[in-house]
Amino acid sequence: MVKRHVPRWSDVSSLVGVKSLFTRHNSVDKAVTIWQLRAIAQSKTPRAVFDYTDGAAGEELSMNRSREVYRDLEFYPRVLRDVAKVDTSVTVLGQRSELPFFFSPTGFTRMMHYEGEPAVAQVAAEFGIPYTLSTLGTTSIEDLAAAAPDTRKWFQLYLWRDKASRFELVDRAAAAGYEAIMLTVDTVVGGMRVRDVRNGLTIPPQLSAKTLADMARYPKWWGNLLTTAPLEFASLKSTGGTVAELMNSVFDPSITMDDVKWLRDNWHGKLIIKGVQNVADAQMLIDAGVDALVLSNHGGRQLDRSVVPLELLPQVRAAVGAEPEVMIDGGALCGADIVAGIAMGATGVLVGRAYLYGIMAGGIAGVRRAATILKTEVEQTMRLMGIKQLDELEPNMVRLRNK
Ligand SMILES: Cc1cc2nc3c(=O)[nH]c(=O)nc-3n(C[C@H](O)[C@H](O)[C@H](O)COP(=O)(O)O)c2cc1C
Repeated sequence: MVKRHVPRWSDVSSLVGVKSLFTRHNSVDKAVTIWQLRAIAQSKTPRAVFDYTDGAAGEELSMNRSREVYRDLEFYPRVLRDVAKVDTSVTVLGQRSELPFFFSPTGFTRMMHYEGEPAVAQVAAEFGIPYTLSTLGTTSIEDLAAAAPDTRKWFQLYLWRDKASRFELVDRAAAAGYEAIMLTVDTVVGGMRVRDVRNGLTIPPQLSAKTLADMARYPKWWGNLLTTAPLEFASLKSTGGTVAELMNSVFDPSITMDDVKWLRDNWHGKLIIKGVQNVADAQMLIDAGVDALVLSNHGGRQLDRSVVPLELLPQVRAAVGAEPEVMIDGGALCGADIVAGIAMGATGVLVGRAYLYGIMAGGIAGVRRAATILKTEVEQTMRLMGIKQLDELEPNMVRLRNK
């Protein structure tokens, strides 16, 4: 016979953990994957805002393919190697980044959460990685520089129809001490974001009968929106309107290599071109002397069916060789994705939604959680792959299944 006794508090408390009694079920601290952060984000953010972040263009084929391709990857780990200590750093633009992922530029970050761009940039500094401020940021070039003095800062440039603004933005980025300009070239017009059209999203969000009903569901988000600085392009004046109207009124569809050459001559920092989706363009840009490329389909938000950057990468490497810095982005939502990208030849992997889910879920604490999740997964994947440093990865340690 098993002897029983009345449960003592000490037995129960050690099982329950007093801390967990007081941790809300949707606290970001409980999330152990980016997908869990996404679920919390969805519960805390109005649908139009969540969809703006989560969604993509057309049928969202490029976005979903970019995610699926990581699932089709197969690792061939090495064993019996001492991996007690791992070094997760990479070199990008001649400087060390503590981790192989960087925060990509995202517009309107203060719409996702009022703490916005400064929160993301601060977390980048804490983790020793670069942060890129978008031209469509809701924090200005100067305010971001002041709020994140210790962050490695890049500025993402869109070339606007209004030519005067490009001179102004480049000068301001130089004066504020940004290390690099990342020129995005996949945005000559806005993509067809079906979810935004369906939701009637305007920036800034407008008060309508629908939004008033929404306020009752997300009072905290609306309270923060209405009691903090107005949402606007902080680096430039804009008229507002739907997302498509805004984009098409500012993007310049007539940009060419002459604009890249103009930038090469007038910007004295590092120059990155983002949105490259073709081997011939990659070669042309490397030949023109740019410092780095980002193979990107804008997270699937522009041309639906555009190539998956991870699949384009080996073709670009074959053309330009191992030397040029070639980053990728799109679909990376865990540390194993990032390690796989490096194994396939990327200099680093930019992440967008991964940190945006974090900020929507819990402001700066959520971004920190997202970075912690990715860092932990990178370290764990490296150990399980049997590598101490990322440059020990060899192409034959990762393979796209059925290719
Ligand atoms: C909400 C949102 C806003 C974005 N805004 C910009 C932008 O202003 N400029 C830009 O070059 N890319 C922008 N991007 C694209 C990202 O920089 C990046 O290419 C993409 O998010 C990578 O895919 P991932 O989200 O799957 O990581 C945006 C992406 C999202 C999700």
